[in-house]
Amino acid sequence: MSESDRAAGLSSGGPATGVGAADVVPRARNTKRSYLATKLAYNIGRLHGLSLRLYLYRRIGMKVGKGCVIRRGVYLGSPNELELGDGSFVGRASLYCTGGVKIGRNVNVSDGVVIITAKHDVNSPSFEANYEPITIGDWAWIATNAIVLAGVTIGEGAVVAAGAVVTKDVPAYSVVGGNPAKVIGERKRQPFDYVPGSYRPPFL
Ligand SMILES: CC(C)(COP(=O)(O)OP(=O)(O)OC[C@H]1O[C@@H](n2cnc3c(N)ncnc32)[C@H](O)[C@@H]1OP(=O)(O)O)[C@@H](O)C(=O)NCCC(=O)NCCS
Repeated sequence: MSESDRAAGLSSGGPATGVGAADVVPRARNTKRSYLATKLAYNIGRLHGLSLRLYLYRRIGMKVGKGCVIRRGVYLGSPNELELGDGSFVGRASLYCTGGVKIGRNVNVSDGVVIITAKHDVNSPSFEANYEPITIGDWAWIATNAIVLAGVTIGEGAVVAAGAVVTKDVPAYSVVGGNPAKVIGERKRQPFDYVPGSYRPPFL
């Protein structure tokens, strides 16, 4: 198993051989750095004290905006590939960021969410791993236990309902649910006046 696979939380892999091996791992970069950052983030994520955790996350290369919350007990793979905008909240979720995860401002990522930029080519003889970035727009809400798969872009203000499995891009201000996630509603476009990162749940 390669270091980048470990950092991405993948179980197996084998050498990157064959035609286009370099192409199928377009953003698995800073491998040693990612692996080290993942190990450090695992321990940081268990410390008490939000300010301390945010300070240490920034020290290991994570881009965290102002007024954010990242709950204790989160799992962050390759946190140096994660960008979190001002005022955003990340619950006890699992973010596998090797391919690059960009989360906008005032986004709410609820407990139990899985965001994973890695996947395997099921037709590859070596079970080749590859990575695609995930982008989440400002004011989006990813509700409890939703799964967001590699390469997906979630539009501004969109809602991913609890338990949804998101395989395709989500339009701005739509509500999607189910597996695979489909549009089940619309969200009213309006000037929001809440900041998810100001929420302080117990056992933060
Ligand atoms: C997205 C959500 C808010 C929608 O709630 P809502 O607007 O009250 O929607 P409703 O309950 O009226 O349901 C509307 C339709 O969507 C369907 N639906 C609701 N939630 C769904 C879900 N998670 N997955 C799939 N379909 C869902 C309903 O069955 C209903 O379908 P119908 O019109 O065919 O009967 C809610 O489903 C949800 O995911 N809540 C998450 C709770 C959570 O994570 N809390 C953590 C707080 S940080």
